[in-house]
Amino acid sequence: MPLSQSDITSVLHETRKFPPPAEFSKRAHVKSLAEYKKIHRESVRNPQKFWGKIAKELHWFKQWKKVLEWKEPFAKWFAGGKTNLCFNCLDRHVNSWRRNKVAIIWEGEPGDVRNIPYASLHRQVCQFANVLKSLGVKKGDRIIIYMPLIPEAVFAMLACTRIGAVHSVIFGGFSSEAVKDRIHDSGATTVITADGGFRRGQAVGLKANVDKALRDCPGVKHVIVAQRTKEPIHMEPGRDHWWHELAENAGYECPAEPLDSEHPLFILYTSGSTGKPKGILHTTGGYMVSAYLTTKYVFDLREEDTYWCTADIGWVTGHTYSVYGALLNGATTVLYEGAPNHPAPDRFWQIIDKFGVTIFYTAPTAIRAFIKWGEQHVLKHSLKTLRLLGTVGEPINPEAWMWYYNVVGKKRCPIVDTWWQTETGTIMITPLPGAIPTKPGTATLPFFGIDPAVVNKEGREVPPNTGGYLVIRKPWPAMLRGLYGDPERYKKTYWSEIKGCYFTGDGARRDKDGYFWIMGRIDDVVNVSGHRIGTMEVESALVSHKDVAEAAVVARPDDLKGQALVAFVTLKGGITADGSLQEELRQHVAQEIGSLAKPDDIRFTDTLPKTRSGKIMRRLLREIASGQEVKGDTTTLEDFGVLAKLREEDE
Ligand code: PRX
Repeated sequence: MPLSQSDITSVLHETRKFPPPAEFSKRAHVKSLAEYKKIHRESVRNPQKFWGKIAKELHWFKQWKKVLEWKEPFAKWFAGGKTNLCFNCLDRHVNSWRRNKVAIIWEGEPGDVRNIPYASLHRQVCQFANVLKSLGVKKGDRIIIYMPLIPEAVFAMLACTRIGAVHSVIFGGFSSEAVKDRIHDSGATTVITADGGFRRGQAVGLKANVDKALRDCPGVKHVIVAQRTKEPIHMEPGRDHWWHELAENAGYECPAEPLDSEHPLFILYTSGSTGKPKGILHTTGGYMVSAYLTTKYVFDLREEDTYWCTADIGWVTGHTYSVYGALLNGATTVLYEGAPNHPAPDRFWQIIDKFGVTIFYTAPTAIRAFIKWGEQHVLKHSLKTLRLLGTVGEPINPEAWMWYYNVVGKKRCPIVDTWWQTETGTIMITPLPGAIPTKPGTATLPFFGIDPAVVNKEGREVPPNTGGYLVIRKPWPAMLRGLYGDPERYKKTYWSEIKGCYFTGDGARRDKDGYFWIMGRIDDVVNVSGHRIGTMEVESALVSHKDVAEAAVVARPDDLKGQALVAFVTLKGGITADGSLQEELRQHVAQEIGSLAKPDDIRFTDTLPKTRSGKIMRRLLREIASGQEVKGDTTTLEDFGVLAKLREEDE
């Protein structure tokens, strides 16, 4: 969409500040703001020197010639170098004292648990890599992984990277249509799936979706099926193979393939709320170095940590922070197959206490669900092993941040609010927990080697506390290398809006401390009486009311003001809206941020339409708010029932 001339008005005023606890800083990798600033300054002044030094902490079969070759918008990191991500995740540890350290603690939804040490993970990955080879899979082939969150999904990812096959993980909640589109776009030849998985107490089938998708995918020669639910499924002779049967004949030795640093690593389709999904392409060396470093510093990872990132491996967060970043650091990573509220809304807290989780990384959408379900579910558990909390995926409303800090973190745990994207590959703007004071609602300062800015349409930096466009001014190692098979769309989407910069698509402002406050997607900015405001800020004002759990604000056309604001509001458990609440909420917003941001309509709803990765689908709400029929792509919608309900409420 064309960028608007006028700046974005920021109306959020948040003044609370939380310095890192002294005890935390003392033991942290980066111990003070001054230390952070010094390293950051040097890393941005000379990124090649910085990243070259970090890369040497990992294993390379052959050293690179040049750290960066940059011909905008195409980057090559560590060109000429040869490495292997799987080798760095596994073999490095297996050849050390970590050999028998637990790599993965996995819990299935029914309560079954598997502890997998590095040595055993290594053997299972090698064995499965041999299975892939036995079916003729070669370096560069694209492989679809469409599985529940079971250890075999991780084995499959690592086995691909071991032999240089390019994986494309599709979230298990997607339909056969989504699977078909992604197979076509990627030209995949092999699909790895399972009979099904467990979700909210039910066995949910996956294989039938694959069968349906493959009716239109003649290029797929093999389907490998892991057994999870043991429900009956169709197996197509010649095409479909049981994982466990193929594994019986495969050996445990499979040397990791030395791959060019720029060898394609994975394609991940973004589940964006508009348009055709984009196949985001990442490559090996740069992604590896940055996944390793961000995990270590942002989560201040230590050998004895039990680290849990709750994302599914179908999202980039699951790729980078459940799997690769954690294993590169030799960490113990927790994976959980099922829903956060099965069998009861305290499942996550139960898991934290059961395994002694020390670092917990989740999404604002989950936090708002916990708020809605009520803090009594959290308070049933001690959570005393936790030392650090994280969030990612959306701007976190300051009140949700405070709830997370007080109720989950017991005022003891720093929160890292991490801003990044599928495209950026790794975390870009974030507090370092021992060094950077946090404020509720801001991702704070850039990570090492990252040079973001808030600019106007001409690319000039805007003054403090003025909204603008968030851009990145220098290439970084984990940046996407393109959109699979579509270099033009890559250039147009990311490199043509603002000259010489990567355009993130997000609005933001910086405060006087230089902190970045993300205001959401530019598409979500609304124009009320000539003021362009990010709807996220109005949502945060609503969420700061004691009765509100979640809010989504969109605009509908208005003759007088240009656009009017419509708020969809979910109340906390046990609270019902009486006649006066609507007006009370409007006044509350007026008080918090000024009457210009007062919603014109407030509608109460039990749930909001969200993508399967938990982002509110404001496009659909815009259509509902303006009384239009809901058009366009709804395949990423989590719960179709929501739309019908919202429309009923409309009538
Ligand atoms: O709008 C920003 C929001 O999520 C977008 C990226 O979404 P996706 O590619 O699905 O990746 C999510 C996981 C990395 C961003 O453009 N976003 C992500 N993290 C934050 C955020 N907005 C504000 N604060 C964050 N911490």
